[in-house]
Amino acid sequence: MFKKDGRVLFNDGWKFTLFEKAVTVSEAIKSDDWKSVDVPHDWLIGDSRNLYKSGQGWYKKTFSCTPDDMNKSVELYFDGVYMNSEVFVNGEKVMDWKNGYTPFHAEIGDFLKEGDNVVHVSVLHESPNSRWYSGAGLYRNVWLIKQNKTHILSDGVYIRADISGEVKVDVDYVGEADEVRSVIVGETGLSVINPKLWSPDFPCLYTLKTELVKNGEVVDSVCNSFGFRKVEFNKDNGFVLNGQRLKLHGVCQHHDLGSLGAAFDKDAARRQLDILKEMGVNAIRTAHNPPAAEFLELCDEMGFLVIDEFSDVWELCKTKFDYARFFPDWYKKDVESWVSRDRNHPCVVMWSIGNEIYDTHASERGLEVAQDLHREVTRHDPCGNAGVTIGSNFMMSENARKVSSFLELAGYNYGEQYYDEHREIHPEYFIYGSETTSAVRSRGIYHFPIDTPLLTNEDNQCSDLGNSVVGWGKSNESAWVADRDRLWCGGEFVWTGFDYIGEPTPYSTKNSYFGAVDTAGLPKGSYYFYKAVWNKTAEPFVKIIPHWDWNEGQIIDVIIYSNMETVELFLNGESLGSQSVDFLNNENLHCHWKVKYVKGELIAKAYGVNGKVAAVDRAASFGDTSELRTSCEVYGNLTFVTISAHDKNGEFVANARDRVKVSTAGRGRLVGLDNGDSTDYDSYKSDSRRLFSGKLVAIVKDADSANPVKVELDRSDIPVRKIELTVGSQTLTAENPETALSVRIFPENATYIVVKNDYGCGETATRREASENLDWIHSNLNLTNYKDIDFKCVLDNGIETNIANVENQIIAAKGDGTFRIRAVCHNNSDYPQVVSELEMSVSGLGVITRSQDSFAVFTAGSNDRIYGDNYKIDSDGNVSGIGNNVVLEFHGMDFGEKGASRLKIRGSTMNGANSIRINHGDCEQLIEFGDSYCFNEQVFEIERLYGKSDLRFTFLPGSNFNFAWFKFEE
Ligand code: GAL
Repeated sequence: MFKKDGRVLFNDGWKFTLFEKAVTVSEAIKSDDWKSVDVPHDWLIGDSRNLYKSGQGWYKKTFSCTPDDMNKSVELYFDGVYMNSEVFVNGEKVMDWKNGYTPFHAEIGDFLKEGDNVVHVSVLHESPNSRWYSGAGLYRNVWLIKQNKTHILSDGVYIRADISGEVKVDVDYVGEADEVRSVIVGETGLSVINPKLWSPDFPCLYTLKTELVKNGEVVDSVCNSFGFRKVEFNKDNGFVLNGQRLKLHGVCQHHDLGSLGAAFDKDAARRQLDILKEMGVNAIRTAHNPPAAEFLELCDEMGFLVIDEFSDVWELCKTKFDYARFFPDWYKKDVESWVSRDRNHPCVVMWSIGNEIYDTHASERGLEVAQDLHREVTRHDPCGNAGVTIGSNFMMSENARKVSSFLELAGYNYGEQYYDEHREIHPEYFIYGSETTSAVRSRGIYHFPIDTPLLTNEDNQCSDLGNSVVGWGKSNESAWVADRDRLWCGGEFVWTGFDYIGEPTPYSTKNSYFGAVDTAGLPKGSYYFYKAVWNKTAEPFVKIIPHWDWNEGQIIDVIIYSNMETVELFLNGESLGSQSVDFLNNENLHCHWKVKYVKGELIAKAYGVNGKVAAVDRAASFGDTSELRTSCEVYGNLTFVTISAHDKNGEFVANARDRVKVSTAGRGRLVGLDNGDSTDYDSYKSDSRRLFSGKLVAIVKDADSANPVKVELDRSDIPVRKIELTVGSQTLTAENPETALSVRIFPENATYIVVKNDYGCGETATRREASENLDWIHSNLNLTNYKDIDFKCVLDNGIETNIANVENQIIAAKGDGTFRIRAVCHNNSDYPQVVSELEMSVSGLGVITRSQDSFAVFTAGSNDRIYGDNYKIDSDGNVSGIGNNVVLEFHGMDFGEKGASRLKIRGSTMNGANSIRINHGDCEQLIEFGDSYCFNEQVFEIERLYGKSDLRFTFLPGSNFNFAWFKFEE
């Protein structure tokens, strides 16, 4: 970033109006609905249910010009406008710019008059235009530059700093000048003796001052910061900085800032980077676009290496209105603005020309475009301040590998399985993991047992134990081990550091589950794993996962992360033994105990090499919320207030969901409220929200430092936090095939335990005022009254089982095996919020065979036979990546005389429609599973199938399907 005389922030005083469709400038000017807004501004973030709505936003600002300004060059510099924008001055069009992430400047001098002038900027947001939440509007800084007609161009200084201390400078300017001179501030010229080298641990910066001299007078001057550092991409030693190997402990980051949306805020970005630094992160990949200019300033100052990425698409699109529409005409201008702005940052070590670009494997054209992009990048960074790379998930394709051979810096997305082989056949490659892991987690939500991979659950959350991993990804630990064990591998960039809005794989909720940190900035379990293996300067720590409030007798997987090698666990004072982790050699990098839950206290002690206790963590049983506590972090004008629930003994209530109302005093303004919960659609901009896993973060601008927020429990909304299940016996037999189930909810005065219609309250769940209904609820506290709570019997993988059923508080066994009694409660929200389970086992009744129940749910992976071109059976029973001609057989499916006429399938496909042929006996029929990027359930009316026969699903050529399960219905 550069500082120059006459360059001022132009963020104040903007007004905004929104149209559903594009209008002309004269129509926009006539609008009588202009509202004042803060720039940076994102008009989409306020309505969580309409985060992708198409529309055209218009901004206007009036500013004044003096007679002197008329002889100047006047420029507006936009650091990023999302997207497809046009700039008008006094009603006349100045220019347009299509890309939503690259900066641009508008020379407006010729359009100005003395006195008041009006600038209008239109922004056309047509949806869908990306695979994540983009936000919309003037979402980054705007600058006004008034300068002499002879001036240095914006981003016109190019610095090459050699670690010997010598600096070379190129300056682009317009007009006639006699001299261009540059000097390192504090030095006498362009060299430094024994320069302090820049690195993540010592991010040492220097400033270069450049002046343009005409007739003996300085007519323009610019300051740029830079650093001395040397980057090598060594095929045998990995990434080398200033002569020393340095593993890239990276994360990928999208650009939104949680509840602030895309509107860039340097203070909020600094907090994100602080949190990541503590996790041990030393590198960021700006997925999948150039970041805000100030983001790179922060990385320079705080010491993060950056892969600065250009785009997610080239000529072939991924979504209808994405940048591919503009790529052929615009890529040269966009590369120029991107590279020119970012090339002096010591933090930027790689230019990534693309992420998972279809063009690279679709045809030979991909290589040509890669060569064009490479040429443009090096045109603006000819000395190679950063290397040129690409992140590819198509490395099995020869075309894609040709692109990497050309670039040599070969970024693999989820491709650890190819590393060794490709290193042999492509000795030219510098290999690193441009994208790894994609483990999905919800902060503080745990789905047991850990031994069963549980990608999805009916609560639409992912397990923070680490057992939710997408088909193409890896666990946090295994992706790290693949990198750790290959010294020549440059490192990895975990997908992702923070959760981001959009891409809620594997569901269709609001924000992603991929982060080690949620959108509110609160760490999940994996954060502690990385802190243990990446942060070499962290104080000794130990972290117990999960919380300690479960059903008596339930088996709880207790996971412990620590940066110490040995940990001992105690339950109610009794040692459960010690475990050790060898960080250099083990594949499992955590301690794990299976503990039968009893109320009380878990204590974990981590021991140092001297055998002394180095760190302790504690997880104790807790009760309902009785007070809220706050803790503040101040970043510039922003105060981040973490609000947490505590019980009457002061214990943290880790499953609290209480609604909290937040207010501010004085000048303080609440600008964001977030709990990280992807299923929570309350507005980020409201002053009331439920806690999620006991916490909530409020962001206050210009807070009163003595009294940043007032927080209150809103007692009109008391959600259930826990359903406690107790059974007569967890073991059922032929002699005792039934047991009673009893249930308690916490807090007892929850407002959503609604009654059946025999009590006159209708079918749908209605909210009851707790205070009015407490007596009624207590006197009617039996299972049939819990309209909002469902009970079922499920297998470990969450699929409903037919070996037992539950009705009227009685669990009845039907066949041998193990299952879990499950209760779920919606709390009147879109998805179940509370899931409670208890393990059960049945013996002596005999095994229920499939032919006894062909109407049960069958996971695709439980087939009797599978064959075909491409498919993968996940350990959670999904068959994913089904390509050409794959057949799944299920033998002896018996639909009896009544027959089956409906088929429910849970799956996902990126195809517009995926054809599936179904054969049962002589009957053959075709169904079309509609487009759904995330797993969903679709129901098909089918020609009725009778009697007993083998069932076959055939996936036709061109299939691209992930198959979770199916169920026939009568
Ligand atoms: C990658 C992609 C990312 C994100 C991620 C989710 O393939 O590059 O943008 O979609 O998958 O796992």
